[in-house]
Amino acid sequence: MRESTREGRQPAPKTVFGGTMRQGLHGSALRRLPDGSAPGVADARLLPNDDFAAAWSAIVLPDGMKQRLLRTAVAEAHLRAAVPFDALPLHGVILLTGKPGVGKTTVARGLADRVARTVPNATEWLFVEVDPHSLASSSLGRSQRAVEQLFGTLLDEHAAAGPMVVLLDEVETLFTDRAALSMDANPVDVHRAVDAALVGLDRLARRHPQMLIVATTNFSDALDPALASRADWIVEVPPPDPAARRLILEHTIAAVAAAFPGAGSLLEPALLDAAAEAADGLDGRRLRKAVATACAYRQEAQGDPDRVTGGDLLAVLREKGGQR
Ligand SMILES: Nc1ncnc2c1ncn2[C@@H]1O[C@H](COP(=O)(O)OP(=O)(O)OP(=O)(O)O)[C@@H](O)[C@H]1O
Ligand SMILES: [Mg+2]
Repeated sequence: MRESTREGRQPAPKTVFGGTMRQGLHGSALRRLPDGSAPGVADARLLPNDDFAAAWSAIVLPDGMKQRLLRTAVAEAHLRAAVPFDALPLHGVILLTGKPGVGKTTVARGLADRVARTVPNATEWLFVEVDPHSLASSSLGRSQRAVEQLFGTLLDEHAAAGPMVVLLDEVETLFTDRAALSMDANPVDVHRAVDAALVGLDRLARRHPQMLIVATTNFSDALDPALASRADWIVEVPPPDPAARRLILEHTIAAVAAAFPGAGSLLEPALLDAAAEAADGLDGRRLRKAVATACAYRQEAQGDPDRVTGGDLLAVLREKGGQR
C-alpha cells in the first residue's frame, strides 16, 4: 500500500526507528509470525495484545514501578536506535528478579504490550516467548545447536523484519552460572550452550536495536554473572505489601462476583482490610488462589461460590492461603 500524498493530508509521522508510519490497524505493516512448532518458541503473537494489556493493568506493584519500567524500555528504544553500540553498550535486556508468584512473567508480557503501544513503528511489533526447557536438552551437543539455531537464525531473522520483544522466562535455565556447574550433569555441554547463548545475545544486541529482551528469574544466584552484566536494568519485583494485597484481593473477588454475585459480600471494606492483614507473606498468585480456596472452605456451602463468606476468606488466609 502506498502512502497517501493527496493534498490536505499531513505527511505520515516518522517513527523512532526511522521508518514512516502507514495508516491502518495500529498504523503498521503486516508481520510474519514464527512457526509455533520451532524449537525454543513457547509463544509468538503480534502486539499490541489486549490480553497482555488486561493482565498488566491487574498487576499491582509499588508506586511508579510499572511507569519506570515502561520509561526504561522506551528510552532503550530511542537510545539504541540512535547511539552506536560501542559508545553506549545497551543490550536491550531488562531482567526481572523476584520470588515465585510475584508477577514477573505477567509484567514482562504487559511491558511488551505497552512498549508496542508507546513506540509506533512502520512494521507491526512481534512478541516471542522462548521456552528455555526445550533448549536445555541433556543429549550431547544438542543444547548448543538448539541455542545457536534460536538466537543465530530464528530470532535474528524475525528481528531483521521489524521491532520485537523477546521474553526469556526462567532465564537461569539458559544462562546457568557456569562457575557453579556440577560435574555429574554434562558440564561441558551446558558450558557450551551458555557460551552460545551469550554469543547469540551479543550478536542480536549489535545487529538489532529494535529488539527488546525481557528476562525473568526466581534464582538470581543460579544465573551466570555474564547475563546480569549484559542486563541494562535489573529490577527486583517485590512481594505485595498490605495495600497491594488488598487491591489484588479486591480485583480477584470482583472477578468472581461478576459471575457469582453472592461473592460480592467479600468486597466489604473492613473485611478487605482484615483480609489484607491476614494475608501477610502471600504472593500475588497465592492471594488470588485463596479466593477460590475460600469458596470451598465450609462443607455447608457445598463448593457454591455464591455462598462464600468473609469468615471463609479470613480462615483460609490465616492458614496462609489454604496451604497448611
Ligand atoms: N503484584 C501482583 N498484582 C496482581 N496480581 C499478581 C501479582 N503478582 C502475581 N499476581 C498474579 O499471580 C499470577 C502469577 O503471576 P506470574 O506468573 O506473573 O508470577 P511470576 O513471578 O512469573 O511467578 P514464577 O516465578 O513462579 O514464574 C498471575 O495471575 C498474576 O496476575
Ligand atoms: Mg514466571
